[in-house]
Amino acid sequence: MSASLFFFVHALLLLLLLRVATGTESLTMTPAGCETTCGGMDIPYPFGIGTGCSRKGFEINCVNNNFPVLAGTSLRVVHLSVDPAESQVMLPVGWQCFNASDPSTIEDWRDGEMEMNKDGAYRISNTQNKLFVLGCNTMGYRENKRAEGGSFDSNNHYTGCMSYCNDDKSAQDGLCAGAGCCHVDIPPGLTNNEFNFRMYDHSTMMDYSPCDYAFLVGRTNYTFQRSDLFMDKNRTMPVFLDWAIRDNGSSAILSCADAAKADQYACVSTRSSCFNAKNGPGYNCKCSKGHQGNPYIVDGCTNIDECADKVKYPCYGVCEDTQGSYKCTCQPGYRSNDPRTEHCTPKFPLGAQISTGAIGGILVLVFLSFIYVVRKEQRKTKDFYDKNGGPTLENARNIKLFKKDDLKRILKRSNLVGKGGFGEVYKGIVDDVHVAVKKPIHGSVLASEQFANEVIIQSQVIHKNIVRLIGCCLEVDAPMLVYEFVSKGSLDDILHKVDNKEPLSLDVRVNIATESARGLSYMHAEAHTKILHGDVKPANILLDDKFLPKISDFGISRLIARENQHTGNIIGDMSYMDPVYLQKGLLTEKSDVYSFGVVILELITRQKASYSDNNSLVRNFLEVYEKEKKATELFDKEIAVEGDFELLDSLAGLSVECLNLDVNQRPTMADVAERLLILNRTRRP
Ligand SMILES: *[C@@H]1O[C@H](CO)[C@@H](O)[C@H](O)[C@H]1NC(C)=O
Ligand SMILES: *[C@@H]1O[C@H](CO)[C@@H](O)[C@H](O)[C@H]1NC(C)=O
Ligand SMILES: *[C@@H]1O[C@H](CO)[C@@H](O)[C@H](O)[C@H]1NC(C)=O
Ligand SMILES: *[C@@H]1O[C@H](CO)[C@@H](O)[C@H](O)[C@H]1NC(C)=O
Repeated sequence: MSASLFFFVHALLLLLLLRVATGTESLTMTPAGCETTCGGMDIPYPFGIGTGCSRKGFEINCVNNNFPVLAGTSLRVVHLSVDPAESQVMLPVGWQCFNASDPSTIEDWRDGEMEMNKDGAYRISNTQNKLFVLGCNTMGYRENKRAEGGSFDSNNHYTGCMSYCNDDKSAQDGLCAGAGCCHVDIPPGLTNNEFNFRMYDHSTMMDYSPCDYAFLVGRTNYTFQRSDLFMDKNRTMPVFLDWAIRDNGSSAILSCADAAKADQYACVSTRSSCFNAKNGPGYNCKCSKGHQGNPYIVDGCTNIDECADKVKYPCYGVCEDTQGSYKCTCQPGYRSNDPRTEHCTPKFPLGAQISTGAIGGILVLVFLSFIYVVRKEQRKTKDFYDKNGGPTLENARNIKLFKKDDLKRILKRSNLVGKGGFGEVYKGIVDDVHVAVKKPIHGSVLASEQFANEVIIQSQVIHKNIVRLIGCCLEVDAPMLVYEFVSKGSLDDILHKVDNKEPLSLDVRVNIATESARGLSYMHAEAHTKILHGDVKPANILLDDKFLPKISDFGISRLIARENQHTGNIIGDMSYMDPVYLQKGLLTEKSDVYSFGVVILELITRQKASYSDNNSLVRNFLEVYEKEKKATELFDKEIAVEGDFELLDSLAGLSVECLNLDVNQRPTMADVAERLLILNRTRRP
C-alpha cells in the first residue's frame, strides 16, 4: 500500500522534473537567429522559416524572401495568428469545363486537391469557412479523408450543394441562393480537400455558364458575382485553417491531459496554460489572464500594463498595474461601488463634510481661544507684576517675590483665619515656614512705586516685637503680602473671646504692654525711617506661644489707599482713633500713642473699646479717673487683687497720659516703653 503510494509520488515528481527539463530544452527551439517575418508578415513561433526555426509541422517557406507559403506547397499564407490559433491560406478552386463542340462532355477539370497537412497541424475551419458551388445545373461537393470519425485512408466524407439555372438571368449578383451559386457549411475535422462534380448537360447554357466551380472560402471573403460563372480557373480563395499542437500525426495527442505527459510540451512560457483544440484533437496554449505575448516561447507571456490602456481597461480612480491584473481604487475619502465602471464620489455627503469641517473649525477656534486666554493671562500676570513694582522689588534683598501659583493652594476657605479692613488673612506653609498671607480687597493698595518702597522699608524692619514681612506676590491686581505666622492669634481674641476666656495674669498683661510699646517705639524712633502704625489696637497685636507680642500691619494704613479719598484719608479703627487726628486729619506718632493708651485700658479692664458705644470705655474711665484720681472699680476683677493695685494705678495713670487730648502732653512711645519696662522690672526682681 505505502509502496505503491511511494511509487506514485515518485512518478509525479519525475514528471514534474521532466516538464521542467523539456521547458529548458524548448529554449533552444525559440527562433533565436531565425527570420521572424516574411514579406512584411510576422511569423510567430511555433511557425518558423527554415530548419530548427519552427515546431515540426509548422514550417513556412519564404518564397523569394517575399511571400510565405506552407512548406512543401505553393499555398500562400496570408495570415498567421497565435491566439486565436488560426491561419489563412490561399487555396485553389476546383472546376470542370464543358467541350464547346460537345457540351455533354468535359473538356478539362481540376479537383483542387492539396497536400498541406503532412503532420496534421491544420484543420479547415468549419466555423469560418463555407463551401461555394458555382454553375448552372451542377452539383458540386468536396470529398476528403477525415481524420476523425472516418477511415483515414479513403476520401469518404462528402459535403456539397446543388445549383440550378432556368435561363441566363437566373444568376444574380450578390445572391448565392441556389441559382448559379449555392453554398453550404462544412463539418469540423477536415484535414484536406478535393472537389468533385456531378455532370449535367450544359448544351443550352454554354454561353453563360461553360464551367462549374467549387471552392472553400472564408465566410466573409466572398460575394457571388454573375461574372464569376466565367471565373479564372487559376483563382485561389482565402481559407481559414485552425491549427493545434498534435505532434504525432493524427491522434497521438488528443488533449491537454495527454500533452502534460508528452515530450515537448508546447506551453513553455510562464503564466501560460493549455487549452484543448476546438477543431480536432490536440491543444493550444494561451497566456494567462492579464498577460499577452507568445505562450509557445520561454517568457513569451508578459504582463499587460492595463493602466496604459484606459479604453480597454477603464478605471475612474487611481490605477495601479499588478502582475496579471490591475488595481483600481478611489482616492482616500472617495468611494465607488466599482471604480472600474463607476466614478468615485466623496465618501461623506456634502452636509457631513461641511459639519465635519465646522466641528474641526470650532475645535481649532476653541484651541486658539484657549491659547489666547493663557497668553492673555500670562500677559496680565506680567502686567500686574510690573504695575506693582516688581522690577523695583527684584533688587530688594530681604523680600521674597512669590509667584501666584506658590500661594494658590493657601488661598482657600479652610485656611482663612481672619478678615479685616485690609482684606483677608490666610494661614499656610511656604518653603517650610508658617506664614500668614494677607490678600487685600481689590483696588485698595497704593500705586506701584509707593507700594514697592513701602514694602522695601518694612522688609528692613527686623524686631522681635514686629511681625516680620517675608515677601509679597505682585502677579495679581492687588499685591498680596506674606508675613511670619504668629501662633496664638491677636490680643483682641485673647482678651475678649466670648466663650471660654483664658485666665491672663497681670504679669503677662504688663509684659504684653511693655513689649508692644517697645515694638512701636522702635518703629517710631529707631528704624531707618520713621514708620507710623496708624491703627494700633489689640487686634493688631499678635501673641506667640509664649505670649510675646508682635505688632502686625505696620504701615499698612499707609499702604492702603482707600477709594474714598474725601474722608481725608482717615484710616483705622474708630474705637481706638485719636480724636485730634480725627479733627485735623494729620497722622503723627502721638496718634499711635493715643491708641496705645486705649490698649492699656483694655489690658487692665478686659473690656472692649467700642466707638459705636459712644466710646464708653474711654469716657467712663476718664470720668472716674478725673474724680477720684484712680479707677479701682473698673479694673478687671481677675487681676484686681490686694498688692497689685499700685501697679494697676500706675498703668491707669500712664494710659490717661496717653489719652490726653493735648497732643503735646502725651508721652512719646519711647517714654511709654521706658516706663512700662521699669514697671515690669519691679514686678520681676
Ligand atoms: C471536343 O469535342 C469535339 C467533337 O466531338 C472533339 O473533336 C474534340 O476532340 C473535343 N475536345 C477535347 C479537348 O476533348
Ligand atoms: C477574409 O475575411 C476576414 C474577416 O473578414 C479578413 O480578416 C481577411 O482579411 C479576409 N481575407 C482576405 C484575403 O481578404
Ligand atoms: C493558370 O496556371 C497555369 C499553370 O500554372 C498556366 O499555364 C496558365 O497560363 C494559367 N492561366 C491563366 C489564365 O493565368
Ligand atoms: C510519434 O510517432 C512515432 C512513430 O509512430 C513514435 O515512435 C513516437 O513515439 C510518437 N511520439 C509521441 C510523442 O507520441
